[in-house]
Amino acid sequence: MEHYKGLKPSRRNFLTGAAAVGGALAGSRLSAQTADPLIVNPQPWRQDLGAGVDAAPYGVPSKFEADVIRRDVPWLTADAVSSVNFTPLHALDGIITPNGLCFERHHGGVAVIEPSEHRLMINGLVDKELVFTMEDLMRFPRENHVYFLECAANSGMEWAGAQLNGCQFTHGMIHNVQYTGVPLRLLLEEAGVKTEGKWIMVEGADAAGMNRSIPMEKALDDCLVAFKMNGEALRPEQGYPLRLVVPGWEGNMWVKWIRRIEVGDQPWHAREETSKYTDLLANGVARRFTWEMDAKSVITSPSPQAPITHGKGPLVITGVAWSGRGTIPQVDVTTDGGMNWHKARISGPSFDKSMHRFYYEMDWDGAPLLLQSRAHDSTGYVQPTKDALRKIRGENSIYHNNGIQTWAIDADGKAENVEIS
Ligand code: MTE
Ligand code: CO
Repeated sequence: MEHYKGLKPSRRNFLTGAAAVGGALAGSRLSAQTADPLIVNPQPWRQDLGAGVDAAPYGVPSKFEADVIRRDVPWLTADAVSSVNFTPLHALDGIITPNGLCFERHHGGVAVIEPSEHRLMINGLVDKELVFTMEDLMRFPRENHVYFLECAANSGMEWAGAQLNGCQFTHGMIHNVQYTGVPLRLLLEEAGVKTEGKWIMVEGADAAGMNRSIPMEKALDDCLVAFKMNGEALRPEQGYPLRLVVPGWEGNMWVKWIRRIEVGDQPWHAREETSKYTDLLANGVARRFTWEMDAKSVITSPSPQAPITHGKGPLVITGVAWSGRGTIPQVDVTTDGGMNWHKARISGPSFDKSMHRFYYEMDWDGAPLLLQSRAHDSTGYVQPTKDALRKIRGENSIYHNNGIQTWAIDADGKAENVEIS
């Protein structure tokens, strides 16, 4: 019996081969010497009964997936309370991030809020100031949308050159979740925004009391006050019981544990929009209010944490792409550092301001590769190289690094974070 060596150039060969193996099994014509013991011997999981229902009333992943976890970079922050961990992008597929793997970014730790004691207040330039309970919010029409949340600091450690070895760390400050929530517009309409009301300030109930200014136009457009993620209640670390969803805009504005919305006629110039989340240019001027997340992509496998282990032959290259301005109609992949680009195949739903999954299948001859992906978004914008980005933005930036990522694959299939353009 022969083990699978990878798809032959012609898939018909493979299918004929599979049929031949199937036939052999049915006729029990396998010889003991050539047979794989894992196929011919009864395994423990076949001999004993398994655990019954309710062994885990809330299901958990297989113990063999114990490596697929959020991870932090200990030297990045002084403590875990004002810190970040990263989504294991290298181990995921499709477009939805499982709730337990969504990266966390807190400035004052996770607030633990009893939902019956949670309140959302709207005050300021409104006809009537309002306080909502969670029960009140459940009586408004809700919507479901899949959106990515990317921290503006994602890839921030990579401005001056390749640093962290793995897409979990270079690109893992992102998750893509289906939210259920009430359009913020409906709540603002309920309060009645006065004509001078041009901005809102959103504030969290956590110890950090995180607050940001958002222009009224965006607040009335597609923001959601969300209470469910991927069908279940928000996780505590994602803002239970209530968070703001600000589609396509930097993650910092997605205030978790949201408790107050103030309507005003000007932005508040809060800490998170002055000393943080501004981009210092080479000439010393800082860009402000850079809310929209530019189109970006990354190859998630192969990558430093997901090397090629199967040797030459058929190789599936896959990754994710997203844009804060719309959908991703096209992703290109290069295997030679940008000399030749190939159109990748996008598979799965293409939602506005959501992650897209792409694949590029090739026959690997075992030679070293320089892998890159390049996203095009529905506005026609094309993801730039890091050099092109630095030409405009200099090297002092932390936020909004959407440059093209390179993985160098060696002849053993090992991958490393490098920079070539
Ligand atoms: N909201 C509150 N109340 N407190 C916070 O510390 N962190 C912000 C934002 N909202 C934060 C917050 C930042 S910087 C980001 S990137 C996102 O939440 C992270 O969301 P997540 O933890 O669900 O990934
Ligand atoms: Co952030």
